[in-house]
Amino acid sequence: MISPAKRLDKIPPYLFKEISALKRKALAEGKDLIDLGIGDPDQPTPNSIIEALGSAARLPETHRYDETNAGWVPFLDAVSTWFDKRFGVQIDAATESLLLIGSKEGLAHLAWAYIDPGDISLVPDPAYTVYKVNTLMAGGEVYVMPLLEERGFLPDLSAIPSDVADKAKLLWLNYPNNPTGASAPLSFYEEAVYFCRSHNLLLVNDAAYSEVAYDDYQPPSVLQVAGAKDVAIELHSLSKSFNMTGWRVGFAVGNPEAISTLNVLKSNLDSKQFPAVSLAAAEALLHGDNSATLALYKRRRDILCDGLNALGWKVRKPESTFYIWALVPKGYTSVSFARMLLEDASVNVIPGSGYGEYGEGYVRMSLTVMGDKNGERIEEAVRRIGEHVKF
Ligand SMILES: Cc1ncc(COP(=O)(O)O)c(C=O)c1O
Repeated sequence: MISPAKRLDKIPPYLFKEISALKRKALAEGKDLIDLGIGDPDQPTPNSIIEALGSAARLPETHRYDETNAGWVPFLDAVSTWFDKRFGVQIDAATESLLLIGSKEGLAHLAWAYIDPGDISLVPDPAYTVYKVNTLMAGGEVYVMPLLEERGFLPDLSAIPSDVADKAKLLWLNYPNNPTGASAPLSFYEEAVYFCRSHNLLLVNDAAYSEVAYDDYQPPSVLQVAGAKDVAIELHSLSKSFNMTGWRVGFAVGNPEAISTLNVLKSNLDSKQFPAVSLAAAEALLHGDNSATLALYKRRRDILCDGLNALGWKVRKPESTFYIWALVPKGYTSVSFARMLLEDASVNVIPGSGYGEYGEGYVRMSLTVMGDKNGERIEEAVRRIGEHVKF
């Protein structure tokens, strides 16, 4: 057989073969596993969105290729309406927005659209791995921006050497953040926009979790910063906002040149999304209500964080995302702690080292627990952790 392209060798090795094997073994043995590992909403897509898909799928015009420039027009119009209502930012649907087949697709392709061999991406660590892996596959280099707890998991932009910043092309940010659960205040985005303007960088903000927030907190958009559209593009997703991960739909908004560049690449790679999905997504943006899911996540968050804190494990309660990012107890690494919880307590968590070297020493616990109706599985997880760990 012929060999695959060398760029695939740039994909870092999968670190958790052993943990995955242990999880499969536990399930095969019929163990009652509580899985805090998966970052995928466990609740179904709201009914009104499913109904909208049904109606849209009956329209013959949705059965053909979406031959528009940047996405089904009612969808892009809904993006513009939603963005204005949610963030008070005007988006020109025709030039400043682009339909994506999920935000992962857009993030990955932005690296391919901008990074040539030797180009630099400024990438946070720990982070969703897509920014780094696609920069590397495109032949680029990664400059790591540590996300440290003492800085609220915001990168220290002033610590980036000027020659690196001048040479770099992309600054990747992700708030609300996976895996740390941190959020960014608008003042940080102001700093980041200024930094990108000073060093001629494109700011890519991954806002996949912008609608997963609690206690009246409303995460800001980087595009709320005056002049941000000169240097920034922001990617949004319907996946976590409306429990639509399987539907594969999201969008990019912001700098028209970056939107158009990404579209040039994409129009040679894909043929957009099933237009009926675009129409259902428009319904979600215009009329969707995911407040019941958010109320459930909040209940689970409070049970988990209050329960673990009562055990003596100091964990921070996130105001957004469905992730709890916690330091492992002394004497453990990320992996050894996750392995112990899986083997002894049948509780699955993700070792932080999977998100980069600065994730070592942490684990990520997700609130999206399949089979949990009202927090009872989370309560049971806390009980089991308390039985097996002394903090
Ligand atoms: C930080 C972050 N960005 C983007 C995505 C991709 O979401 P989607 O491609 O479903 O829009 C995820 C998925 O888990 C994520 O955690």
